[in-house]
Amino acid sequence: MAITSGVGRRMLVISAVLVMGAAGSAGASGIAQIIHARQNHFRTLGRTAKSIRDQAGRSHPNWAVVEADADRVERLASALPSWFPAGSGQGHGVRTRARPAIWAEPRQFARFARRLLHRAQQLRQAAASHDVRALRLRARSLGRGCDSCHRRFRAHRSWWHLW
Ligand code: HEC
Repeated sequence: MAITSGVGRRMLVISAVLVMGAAGSAGASGIAQIIHARQNHFRTLGRTAKSIRDQAGRSHPNWAVVEADADRVERLASALPSWFPAGSGQGHGVRTRARPAIWAEPRQFARFARRLLHRAQQLRQAAASHDVRALRLRARSLGRGCDSCHRRFRAHRSWWHLW
């Protein structure tokens, strides 16, 4: 009887650890890695979008650069949802501006991400067409796609201390 309950208790501990492992995913250092990788991806996205805007501001854009950048933006936009696994928000001692709403309203968040991808696809088409006016239009539309998600799902810098 004593042995049975001991085994039972041990099983309980083991399953509790497994459940925590699933929910908390990779542990504190794993979460830090996920958050830092996410922020790096966003910095690349930001640099690439800026490069496109710079080219779009020229009367003769370098279309090889524009096409490579647009391709990259589209690939990043399609990967974006995977940068936000459950449990990679605030509260792990890692600075992140990812608001809890991302996981509380997953369908809304997914909609903003899809919208960005759609705009990135239109941008790539404009890049392939070598049409400067279309490029400017689509680059602006992409920028609005970034801003609208940031307004809703990215915390203001001065709120960082809340992590
Ligand atoms: C679906 C929502 C969403 C979209 C669309 C989006 N972002 Fe973000 N972005 C975020 C969130 C959330 C963060 C905060 C990430 C964090 O701190 O962990 C962020 C952070 C960033 C950062 C700061 C990275 C750092 O240094 O910490 C940059 C730069 C950025 N985004 C650029 C862009 C650009 C450019 C676009 C459009 C091409 C874009 N984002 C589209 C949600 C989005």
